[in-house]
Amino acid sequence: MKTFHRIAVIPGDGIGNEVISEGIKCLKALSEVFENIQFEFRSFPWSSQYYLQHGRMMPEDGLDVLKDFNAIYLGAVGDPRISDDVTLHGLLLPIKFGFDLYVGLRPVYLFNGVESPLAKVSDGEIDIVVIRENTEGEYSNIGGIVGVEESELAIQSGLFTRKGIERIITFAFDYAREKGRKKVTSVTKSNAQRYGMVLWDRIFKEAAARYPEIRTESKLIDAACMDVVRNPGGYDVIVASNLFADILSDLTASVTGGMGLAPGASFNPKDKTYPGFFDPVHGSAPDIVGKGLANPVAAILTARMMLDYLGETEAGDLLYQAVKKNLAEKKVRTIDLGGRSKTDQVGDDIVRILRSL
Ligand code: NAD
Ligand code: IPM
Ligand code: MN
Repeated sequence: MKTFHRIAVIPGDGIGNEVISEGIKCLKALSEVFENIQFEFRSFPWSSQYYLQHGRMMPEDGLDVLKDFNAIYLGAVGDPRISDDVTLHGLLLPIKFGFDLYVGLRPVYLFNGVESPLAKVSDGEIDIVVIRENTEGEYSNIGGIVGVEESELAIQSGLFTRKGIERIITFAFDYAREKGRKKVTSVTKSNAQRYGMVLWDRIFKEAAARYPEIRTESKLIDAACMDVVRNPGGYDVIVASNLFADILSDLTASVTGGMGLAPGASFNPKDKTYPGFFDPVHGSAPDIVGKGLANPVAAILTARMMLDYLGETEAGDLLYQAVKKNLAEKKVRTIDLGGRSKTDQVGDDIVRILRSL
C-alpha cells in the first residue's frame, strides 16, 4: 500500500528557493527508491516578494490552507527591502503559534569530513540537540511603541506560562530518555530576568526530579555561550526559551561547520492535527543569493527530519547516510566547506549516493 504525504512547500526568500529545490530533489528520489512512499508537493509563493505585491506575507486564510497538509517545508524568509519583524510576524510566527508547534528541534553533529572552527575537536565529538520553546517567551507579541521624539518609549514583554515551560522541559527529558541521551542542560538568565526565568528554573528542577537517570545542569545564557565554545563535548540536550535557543542554535551550528549544515523542525509532539513545520536554522542569506553558493545540506537534513515526523524513518535514514557519505568524501561540497561545487551539484551528488546505497 502506498503512503501518501501532502507537503506544503514555501521556498520563501533568497537562498530559500535554492536549497529547498535540492531537498525536494532528494525526496523525489526517495519516493522512487521506496515505491510505497508518495509525495504531493504544493508550492506557495508566500514571501517578501508576495508581501510587496499584496501587503501581507501570506493570504488571510493562509493557515486554513496549510492546515490540511501533513507537513510544511520552508526555505527561509527575509529581504533587505522589508523590516525583518514584518516577515517574522507575517509568516513564521503565525504558523508556529497558530498550529501550537511548541517544540523547536535543532540538532547539530560534527560530521566526519567537516572541520570545526574549534581546535582539538574531531568528528562525533560535538553532538548537541537544542530544544527551543516555540510558542511564547520573548517572542510573544506583547508590548508597543508610544510617544514621539524624546518621549518615545517601547515596552516589550515576555510571556512565560507554567504550561508552556512545563511542556517543553518535559519534552526535552522525554526526548533524552527515548534517544538514550545522558544530560539535559537548561539555559536561562534568571539573575537578570527575575520572573519568567525564575519560574523556568523552578519548573526545570521539578521536572529533573522525575528523570533521575538523566544528568541535569542549569546555566546562564552568557556562561553557556562561552562554555559551548570552550567545551562543546559537555553538551548533549539543551532546552531553552524561544530567544535563547534561537541564539544558541546559530552558535551550535557554527561550531559544527556552519549554517549550511544545521537543520530544524517545529512540531507538536502530542497532537498532529496540524502540520509540522520544517525549516533549516539559517536565513535567506542575501549576501550569497543567486550565485549557487548556498549549501543545501541544512535543507536536506531538514527534509530528513520531516521524513521522521511523517513516520518514514527508513527513507529518512537512507537520506542521512547519503548526506554523511557526501560529507565524508569531501569531493562535492560548497564553498563554505572549502569546496567548489554549486548548490545543485551537491543535491545531485546526494541523490547519486542514495541511489547507490
Ligand atoms: P543567515 O542565516 O541568512 O546568514 C548568516 C550567514 O551565514 C551569512 O553569511 C550567509 O551567507 C551564511 N549562510 C546562511 N545559510 C547558508 C547556507 N545554506 N550555505 C552557506 N552559507 C550560508 O542570517 P542573517 O544574515 O542574519 O539573516 C538574513 C535574513 O534571513 C534576515 O532577513 C533574517 O531575518 C532572515 N532569517 C530567516 C530565517 C527563517 O526564515 N527561518 C532564519 C534566520 C534568519
Ligand atoms: C530562526 C530565525 C527566526 C527566529 C527569525 C527569522 C525571526 O532566526 O528561525 O532561527 O528567530 O525564529
Ligand atoms: Mn535564528
